[in-house]
Parts: sequence; C-alpha cells; structure tokens
Amino acid sequence: MTGAELYKKLANTPLQMAMAPYTPELCEEMAVKITRINQLKKEQNAVLLAHYYVPREIVLGPADFVGDSYKLSDDASKTEADTIVFAAVRFMAETAKILNPNKRVLVPGTDPSCSLADSITAKDVRELKSQYPEHTFVCYINTTAEVKALCDVCVTSTNVVDIFERIPNDKIVFLPDALMGKNVINALKAKGIEKEVVLYEEGACHVHERFDYEFIDLFKKSLPGTQVLSHPECTPEVVAQSDFVGSTSQIINQVKSYDEAQNLLVLTECGLVTGLVNDFPQHRFVGACQMCQYMKSNSLDGILRVLENPTPADEVILDPQVMQDARRCIDAMFKYARQGK
Ligand code: 13P
Ligand code: SF4
Repeated sequence: MTGAELYKKLANTPLQMAMAPYTPELCEEMAVKITRINQLKKEQNAVLLAHYYVPREIVLGPADFVGDSYKLSDDASKTEADTIVFAAVRFMAETAKILNPNKRVLVPGTDPSCSLADSITAKDVRELKSQYPEHTFVCYINTTAEVKALCDVCVTSTNVVDIFERIPNDKIVFLPDALMGKNVINALKAKGIEKEVVLYEEGACHVHERFDYEFIDLFKKSLPGTQVLSHPECTPEVVAQSDFVGSTSQIINQVKSYDEAQNLLVLTECGLVTGLVNDFPQHRFVGACQMCQYMKSNSLDGILRVLENPTPADEVILDPQVMQDARRCIDAMFKYARQGK
C-alpha cells in the first residue's frame, strides 16, 4: 500500500477519533512501516490480529484479521502461522496463546491492560467459589488466564445472553463486569427467564461506564429519530435508553441493516465509531465516542519492534496447568455458542 492510498483511506477520520491528524507526510511514513511489517510477517510466518479499537492505520494497514474479541479468538484457533502478533490487550493475547499453546504470541501494546481484567484476581475467584459452591462460574473473556482457569464457562459480549440461557444450572456467578451482569439479567427477564445471578461488584470497563444516559435524552430531543446503539458494558440506564445493544460486530451488523440514512449515536470505543464513519458515509454520526488508552497503546512502531527485536516481556508465557484449565473454560464457551447453530 502506498502512502497516497493510505491517506485516501484515513484522511476523513475526525480528529477526535485519531491519535494524531493523518497528513499525507504521516501516511508516507506509515506506508513504509506497513511494508516492512508485511515483509517480516512473511519471513517469520506470522499473522497480525487486530481488535477494532486499535489505531486505524493498523486495522487498514498490516492486519490480517480484524474483529471483536469473539471473532479474534475464533481466528486465533484456526491460524496455521507460527507466530501471532496480537494488537489489542493482554487478556486477548492470552486467549490466543491458550488456543495455540505451541505458537509464539507477541503483544505489541505498551500498556495492554484492561480495567475489567485488572479488577479481579485468582484469589478473589477462589473466595467466591467457597461462598457459592453450587453456582456455575461464568467469566467474561476480559479476564486473565488464571481467572479463566478457575471458572466453568467464558463468554464474550456477542454470546453472553445466549450462553446464560443455555447453561443448565439456574444459579450463576458472573464476573467481573457488574454493569454487563445487570444488563444480562435484564435481557433474560425480558425473555421471561429468571436465574439467580450473583455479580462481582468491583469490575467495570472504564471506557463504557463513562457514557451518560442524560445526554441520550438531549440528543433524542434535539434530533428526533436518532438511533442509539450501545455496548453491553455501558450502564443499565444507558442500555435502557438505547434502541440497539450489542457487541462490536453486532453493532456493525445493525448499522449495515439500516436501509435509509439515519442519525446515529454510537456509544462505544472510538475505533469502532471511526470505522463506521468511514464505511457508512450515508449516515450522520452524532455525539462523542470514548477512547481506550490500552487499545490505543498499540502502534505500527510497537508491531515492528516485537517482530524485529522482541524482549521476553513481549511474549505471552503461561503456566501449562493454567493454560489447560483455562482452555476448558474457553472450549465450554465455543460449545455453548455453537449449540444454537
Ligand atoms: P468485544 O467483545 O465487543 O470485542 O468487546 C471487547 C472489549 O474489550 C470491549 O470493551
Ligand atoms: Fe478493557 Fe474497556 Fe478497554 Fe475493552 S474498552 S479493553 S473492556 S478497558
């Protein structure tokens, strides 16, 4: 890809959705780095997986697979490459390692944490398990491998409601996202399903919890007919005011489904909203998105660094027993998720 081609794709990115303005000069520099990354991937039989939330030049440039956490776990389970470079956050790279124990998994982000994954430790889960011995432990994919290893089933925002419905036990502990947990309980109630769900109250996504439901009302009043789309990590008040609630890929599919031009208020991370602004110019995107600093700590330079000169800290190394136990938890997710298909 030439610098001019890259600039054509990135030029219309609104400034508040980019880490820096995309100028022709910057795109020339980026195109050189993308060419080098593609060459190194070929030499090392490596693939680059990128979450929608990472900077746009990675998504449109060297990424081989782009998706949300469920799609990327599925892509990771199928790859034949020797090395996986995972431009996202650490828990996602850990999932790729658990699904590919013999492959090298590299993390290019300089701060690849996640406020949800950081909110709970294996010790916290052990304590909860002793309090709730009869419950099925369901963890969000945004957790460390050690936490997954202690849980029964893992879920993503794409499949969480379906999996809750399919788990035969009516007693569930869900961790660590309390806001998503409340939204799932409400979604189940709306379907006439009552389960005893215990929530871990400490966890929240620091990006999605920032959206304020009072703004939704203001937008709906000043722009009647505005469609509000939100991620299930938002507060229940935001979700209650939304016309559509779904994971990253479900939001994209919903936007695709509108036949006529709409005013859209999309309450999620800026990376996804930027992609929508670029791909669906017929719609008007209103309001402001929020950035995840952990996802945005990925860069072309970081990817080049881990391919050219990886340090031990760049590679995901997990205890073999933890990997085996966490694999059981992730496989349970794939099993439940595929049950409906
Ligand atoms: P998705 O499952 O929609 O990719 O969400 C992952 C995430 O971290 C959202 O904040
Ligand atoms: Fe974690 Fe929220 Fe960032 Fe997703 S957006 S990686 S849940 S902090």
